[in-house]
Amino acid sequence: MHQPSLFSDLNALETPPVTPFKTQLIKWVGNKQRYADQIIAHFPPAYGTYLEPFLGSGGVMANLAPPRALGSDVYGPLMEIWQCLADDPDRLIAWYDDRWSWFHAGDRHDRYNTIRARFNAAPTGADLLFLCRACYGGVVRFRKKDGLMSTPLGVHPVIKPEKFARRVALWQPRMAGAQFERLDYLDAFARALPGDLIYCDPPYSHSQSILYGAQSFRLETLFAAIADARARGVFVALSIDGTKKSGDTYCNIPLPEGLFVEEHFVNIGRSMLRRFQMDGQTLEDEIVRDRLLLTYASPRGTPKP
Ligand SMILES: C[S@@+](CC[C@H](N)C(=O)[O-])C[C@H]1O[C@@H](n2cnc3c(N)ncnc32)[C@H](O)[C@@H]1O
Repeated sequence: MHQPSLFSDLNALETPPVTPFKTQLIKWVGNKQRYADQIIAHFPPAYGTYLEPFLGSGGVMANLAPPRALGSDVYGPLMEIWQCLADDPDRLIAWYDDRWSWFHAGDRHDRYNTIRARFNAAPTGADLLFLCRACYGGVVRFRKKDGLMSTPLGVHPVIKPEKFARRVALWQPRMAGAQFERLDYLDAFARALPGDLIYCDPPYSHSQSILYGAQSFRLETLFAAIADARARGVFVALSIDGTKKSGDTYCNIPLPEGLFVEEHFVNIGRSMLRRFQMDGQTLEDEIVRDRLLLTYASPRGTPKP
């Protein structure tokens, strides 16, 4: 359990300025690292514990480097990687080193396929770590029909263990304030206390249908959890993909009335804002990708007096 916190507590933490940090530890579909500094710019100026219940490859959390956080995801092997980083970073490096060395000591395709078959028979964080670095395009794809990881070996060189070890050394201190747990997002939401901040990046878009858990994910259930958290005094920021499968067309997801107070577009080279209380303002014709919806008025969205 993370420590209790209240927004008004002396413990409330000021959001530090963020230096963009783009070096990836894990390759993961939907990684938000490139836009993390834009997202974080819309976080409240102070909050208690930072919760990221769809942690994935932790792109936002690593940029934020929160002093107190709960990082969670429903995918067990992924959480094994995060827990290993926190508990025993040398072991994480050894996991990678062992597989990288074995892979390079024989036919690389055969050896990749052997690791993938072993992973599909009994998924582990250690094998997932190597597969996500070695697979084609870094896209860990789960087949719809049987849930198995199906991505072939990539054409790129797989980073050397020394380079991976340097990444671990960069990431470990950035994630040191976090505890990591395998949780369904609803269980993570239940942990949030008044004044905490939840950042959500759910598996919701056509391009993410290959992600773990995406098939059963229901946006309506997430909206209900956000409404409940908001009523308890928790700040919630939600990333939602605004593109249709066919191209860069803005896709208007029906949002519950009054749940969000601001919407930002963070992934188009500049940041735009729509305030829901302002009538007649629409961005329907804009080409956008990621939308950030807030249940609170953000520092960037609040007009200067
Ligand atoms: C879009 S990805 C998050 C990407 C992340 N922001 C990053 O930078 O890598 C969505 C994540 O939600 C996780 N997920 C799917 N269903 C979930 C559930 N019910 N509860 C918690 N996590 C879930 C997936 O395993 C995946 O890692």
